[in-house]
Amino acid sequence: MLNKKTVRDVSVKSKKVLVRCDFNVPIDKETGNITSDKRIVESLKTIKYLINAGAKVILCSHIGKTGQNKTLLPVSKRLAELLEMDVLFIEDIFKDNVRDVIDSMQDGDVVLLENTRMTEKEEANDEEFAKYLASFADIFVNDAFGSAHRAHASTEGVTHFLPSVAGFLIEKEIEALDHSINDPKRPLVAIVGGAKVSSKIGVLNALLDKVDTLLIGGAMTYTFLKAEGINVGKSLCEDDKLDVALEILQKAANKGVKLLLPVDNVVAKEMSEYTEEMTVSVEKIPEDYMGLDIGKKTSALFEEEIKKAGTVVWNGPVGMFELDKFSSGTRKVAEAMADSNAVTIVGGGDSASAVEKFGLEDKMSHISTGGGASLEFMEGKKLPGIEALLDK
Ligand code: 3PG
Repeated sequence: MLNKKTVRDVSVKSKKVLVRCDFNVPIDKETGNITSDKRIVESLKTIKYLINAGAKVILCSHIGKTGQNKTLLPVSKRLAELLEMDVLFIEDIFKDNVRDVIDSMQDGDVVLLENTRMTEKEEANDEEFAKYLASFADIFVNDAFGSAHRAHASTEGVTHFLPSVAGFLIEKEIEALDHSINDPKRPLVAIVGGAKVSSKIGVLNALLDKVDTLLIGGAMTYTFLKAEGINVGKSLCEDDKLDVALEILQKAANKGVKLLLPVDNVVAKEMSEYTEEMTVSVEKIPEDYMGLDIGKKTSALFEEEIKKAGTVVWNGPVGMFELDKFSSGTRKVAEAMADSNAVTIVGGGDSASAVEKFGLEDKMSHISTGGGASLEFMEGKKLPGIEALLDK
């Protein structure tokens, strides 16, 4: 449950409302086109609500990293199409006339400020910059779930200067994620993949306190296998995390959690679409090969667990799905989730991209718009962009 005030709890009529969205969308380098507008589409509910309630809507977001100086202009164009109205794009948020432009807004108008990461003051959570952003508005609405784990000027800093509430996307994300792990329909099955044990230690430990079954895939498999004394050839492996892997296996055993590691995998000499691959059992990875996907037997075992689940939570692909040759395991996981009657929750980032690649978005109960944010939420960490909002 989100125990924070939302846009419903404040009066916005004729007020200037600063809305932090997460418009950090992927843009094709060659065409300049947005390749997935999910984050923009997911922000529409709050924006439309504010327009209809007669607010003056001032949108802001980051895109890319500080120093890359990426522009939100393509987002502004896409937003105008989706809203079917003009969206005024403010190219330079430090220009003298910005305040005049904002002061001349009519009720229901929408402006979008350029990338907040055009200045390094954003990530530094600089107080003056936060105050400057806040000075444009009467109320702050944070709807950037994907950036809620960042304490930056436009996510956390501004909340010190304006009454601050959550938007509908943050509300939806928290309810779906919270429900899935804290009050799930059982059995609760988690699938955790990705390259590194080190980036998933927190979530694995937290999930072991909640789940009935844990399925592990992805390159981090090989750290677990090596910890068990299995030769993993050239597979990616974190030798300094073998003890952590063993602790996780021990914790699962102590808690009575059914933990499944792959029993077979697709291996190749290199990460390439053109290399020759073969499927071998995990004990038989040749010295000069690396594991790049789970094998058919493992997929079948995972599918069986997914079929029995009341809730499935997925974080991280189980193979190198970006290459078609090694995408079969990840596709099978996504398809099994799509076919199941369970509540199906997909963490953002790579697993969300995989579901999109396979065209299964509509078959999932919830696909998070936040990669890092959903991971940190599942780890049980407090998200500063949400903590800072007014309590209910
Ligand atoms: C994301 O894409 O995960 C969010 O927009 C946060 O971006 P960041 O990792 O660059 O802060």
